[in-house]
Amino acid sequence: MKPTVVGIVLAAGKGTRMKSKTPKVLHPLLGQPMLAYALQAMQEATGARPVVVVGHGAEAVQTAFADQADFALQDPPLGTGHAVQAARQAVPEGVRWVLVSNGDMPLLTADTLRSLLDAQREHAGPITMLTVEVDDPRGFGRVVRFPDGRVQAIVEEADATEEQKRIRELNVGAYCFDAAWLWDALPKLPLSPKGEYYLTDLVGLAVSEGRSVQALRLEDPTEAIGVNTRVHLAEAAAALQRRINRAWMTAGVTLIDPDRTYIEPTVRLGQDTVIWPDCYLRGETVIGEDCEIGPNTIVEDTRIGNRCRIVASVLEHAVVEDDVDIGPFGHLRKGAHLAKGVHMGNFGEVKNSYLGPGVKMGHFSYIGDATIAEDVNIGAGTITCNYDGERKHPTKIGKGAFIGSDTMLVAPLEIGEGARTGAGAVVTKNVPPYSLAVGVPARVIRKLEKK
Ligand code: UD1
Ligand code: MG
Repeated sequence: MKPTVVGIVLAAGKGTRMKSKTPKVLHPLLGQPMLAYALQAMQEATGARPVVVVGHGAEAVQTAFADQADFALQDPPLGTGHAVQAARQAVPEGVRWVLVSNGDMPLLTADTLRSLLDAQREHAGPITMLTVEVDDPRGFGRVVRFPDGRVQAIVEEADATEEQKRIRELNVGAYCFDAAWLWDALPKLPLSPKGEYYLTDLVGLAVSEGRSVQALRLEDPTEAIGVNTRVHLAEAAAALQRRINRAWMTAGVTLIDPDRTYIEPTVRLGQDTVIWPDCYLRGETVIGEDCEIGPNTIVEDTRIGNRCRIVASVLEHAVVEDDVDIGPFGHLRKGAHLAKGVHMGNFGEVKNSYLGPGVKMGHFSYIGDATIAEDVNIGAGTITCNYDGERKHPTKIGKGAFIGSDTMLVAPLEIGEGARTGAGAVVTKNVPPYSLAVGVPARVIRKLEKK
């Protein structure tokens, strides 16, 4: 079936006011580039891949979104009207409606874009535009109306009279156009005093042809936050954070201080989990039910089960099963997998290792490239010496083994089931099951009884 609607997202502008080497639309908001939000909303509203107009930093933007959009190059960028014209070649023939939004409005929702489209489908005129009424005009275009209330034009702030500047109804920067009219009208746009072709001048053009322009008013003004400076970027991030946090609280998650809780939109949380202040939950993180996370915890791309307690710790690319407690000051690095009921106390680090059910690792240990069976006790200060300066080597510890405090496990190494090492042992050779090894380098001094 041919698409009847296409979405165009404008992202070719330089973003001069950001004063950045990075293109404006690639600046991140809660872990995702600003443009990702606009693209997702557009994709949801139209059910099709949007067309992104790129120009400044085109290559970087195209690389970042290669599989989420089609691209049209606008070079040089000569204004928002010129940008939509540049997008035409990427729009399939026969499309009836064109939705346009600015790439610098990360809070605009798919629902709002959909209501613009729905309103335009019912509208006899060629344009439905989104407006908002707020006290701070933020440099937005003003919506000028006739005395009888009909829309007359959009006037950009730079070109507005003092009287027009006092208008509080602003152009948000999202529109739905009748496609045939749009393609016909774009070449008629006049050059603005700034030397640009303004998309907003299409409103005055339609009105001068005796056509009507419809304005849809935004109910939630935060959706209209446009990002032109880094001050706006922080405002948009805060608004997005409030939106996400409110949704999680509504869904049954307790946030002790939502203003100090940062949850990226990709994260999933279970019911009755409590998040203490100053937590950053990032990427593809999933946290189960009845957990307590934080304060002061970073969790990135990590799966956490139910009933876990994690205090002041950093977890990256790890898996944590049910009933695990970590911290304070634990660090799980890539490939750490803590099975059910593991206890990991203060100042522990685990990398690329499996800790079986019930393993206890209370204090000051480093475990890397290890496989540890269930119910092993890892004494304070135990280190897997996994790196010989050239290569990494594995360590294996059998079920129920007891590693004495300050043991150095020089890998590659196997500690048998039920074995023990004495405090301060430097273990360079495998320890058989149910044997006690002590000293530097450690030697087996006696067999142990099986319990
Ligand atoms: C624009 C609107 C203004 C509206 C405001 C809302 C125009 C002329 N003005 O102003 O009425 O209130 O947005 O945020 O449209 N872009 C291109 N190519 C260009 C120029 C811009 O793709 O040649 C893109 C930018 O990357 C940006 C968007 O269009 O994503 C808007 O451009 P920007 O310069 O931010 O326009 P505003 O001054 O904010
Ligand atoms: Mg802008």
